[in-house]
Amino acid sequence: MNPALFRPPLGATLRMILVACTSLVVSACGGGGGAPSGSSSSTTQSVGLSAAAALGEKIFKDTSLSLNGNQACASCHVAERGHAGPLQFVGPNTDIPTEPGSDGVSVGGRMSPSIRYLVFNKPFRFEDGTAATGTPTGGFFWDGRAASLSDQGKAPFLNPKEMANADVATVITKLAAATYASEFKALYGQAIFDNPDAAFERVALALQAFEKESPEFARFSSKYDAFLRGQTGLSGSELRGLALFNSSIKGNCAACHPSAIGKDGSFPLFTDFSYDALGVPRNWKVATDPTQFDLGLCDNGTDAINALDASTKAALCGKFKVPSLRNAGLRKAFFHNGRFTSLTDVVTFYAQRDIDPDQFYLDANGQPDVKFNDLPLAYRGNVNTTEGPYNRGPGDSPALNAAEIADVVNFLCTLTDGWSGSDLACQR
Ligand code: HEC
Ligand code: HEC
Repeated sequence: MNPALFRPPLGATLRMILVACTSLVVSACGGGGGAPSGSSSSTTQSVGLSAAAALGEKIFKDTSLSLNGNQACASCHVAERGHAGPLQFVGPNTDIPTEPGSDGVSVGGRMSPSIRYLVFNKPFRFEDGTAATGTPTGGFFWDGRAASLSDQGKAPFLNPKEMANADVATVITKLAAATYASEFKALYGQAIFDNPDAAFERVALALQAFEKESPEFARFSSKYDAFLRGQTGLSGSELRGLALFNSSIKGNCAACHPSAIGKDGSFPLFTDFSYDALGVPRNWKVATDPTQFDLGLCDNGTDAINALDASTKAALCGKFKVPSLRNAGLRKAFFHNGRFTSLTDVVTFYAQRDIDPDQFYLDANGQPDVKFNDLPLAYRGNVNTTEGPYNRGPGDSPALNAAEIADVVNFLCTLTDGWSGSDLACQR
């Protein structure tokens, strides 16, 4: 690693706050938005949020807005798990590793990701080029199909596998009966509930304001942040893990999960919000029908993707958005389909995918299957086999040996928010 890169940055904390503030809704940092007026009877409410964000927080936590009154955004984006899924199973499907919906039985095929640090994400685009030459970047969801947090925030209310309301009018009828309905009217107009579509739009904007303004979603309070601020050292193993993470001939992880302070003093997000096809093996627990495949970006249904010519579009199949690795140690399952359940298994997959694929690619009966078995044959060529650590084959030595994998995992465990001097629990 380049020691200069990791010099304790003087004033980095202040710079970081400034950088964060310029990209936030102005009122969040400038204080001009005004707190909700005095008479609110709510008990727990984050301080310093604009009125819209404070409402957004209430909506985020309100289970009454789901089909059976049992599920809120906060049910699948749990603070203790870095605002990712809790993986606490209810109902008969205890073997299914994604979150069930409000009906207790319907499950989607993708993991509920951490929704922290998304204030720094932008709408989907092809960076530095055309659709054929540029890097697909940005957008929300694993496949980038939502253009903004407010666009995203509408979907769960109506998704039959999530909060499962029949339609917008149903959501707004429930909202009109919520304890904070009067605050909603005070902010958006006394007649707002008469126009369900307009009210739903405000719901989504309030959720977005909360996700962008609340410090809970961008704490920069991990051990690694403290290290970057010069407030602590890392252990020998963590330092080795960091060097392996950064090295282009070892883990090469930082190529997609940047780990260094930006030129503008911004702290690293451990994602560049780009897309890649890693060839994550099929998780038969979530993908039971052998004729069905989750194709990711090429199949996200947006006009931008659907307008592409067939071959440009086909080249995007199998690609999923790079997630931030901040708080990854709080997760119980990894990758879009939850195929791996520990960080050691994830990093072992990166290091050994091309050297010993049979241990990862299994058929429904647990027997060795073809490589890249979660993609139809036509798209297997999209999987990244050129960049490290994937640029190897059977007989080659792995990019990381067992001791090095343990070092990388120990480093990943320093990325959990809320560090206060002693090691935090980590899904090693
Ligand atoms: C039943 C569980 C569940 C509920 C309830 C739920 N989510 Fe999610 N959330 C998920 C899953 C699963 C994904 C990934 C889906 C995909 O990529 O197709 C996701 C994705 C997201 C993302 C995109 C993350 C990214 O990296 O782009 C955001 C933001 C989000 N949810 C916010 C919310 C909000 C706000 C609500 C409430 C209105 C909510 N979620 C309700 C499970 C849930
Ligand atoms: C070429 C880009 C690229 C490189 C290099 C890369 N990753 Fe990733 N990483 C991704 C993408 C894309 C995903 C999501 C893939 C999916 O779910 O299909 C991901 C997912 C992950 C996850 C799962 C996070 C979650 O929330 O589920 C972990 C952990 C991870 N990477 C760690 C690493 C480590 C450690 C390295 C280096 C050994 C590394 N990555 C190298 C692109 C990359």
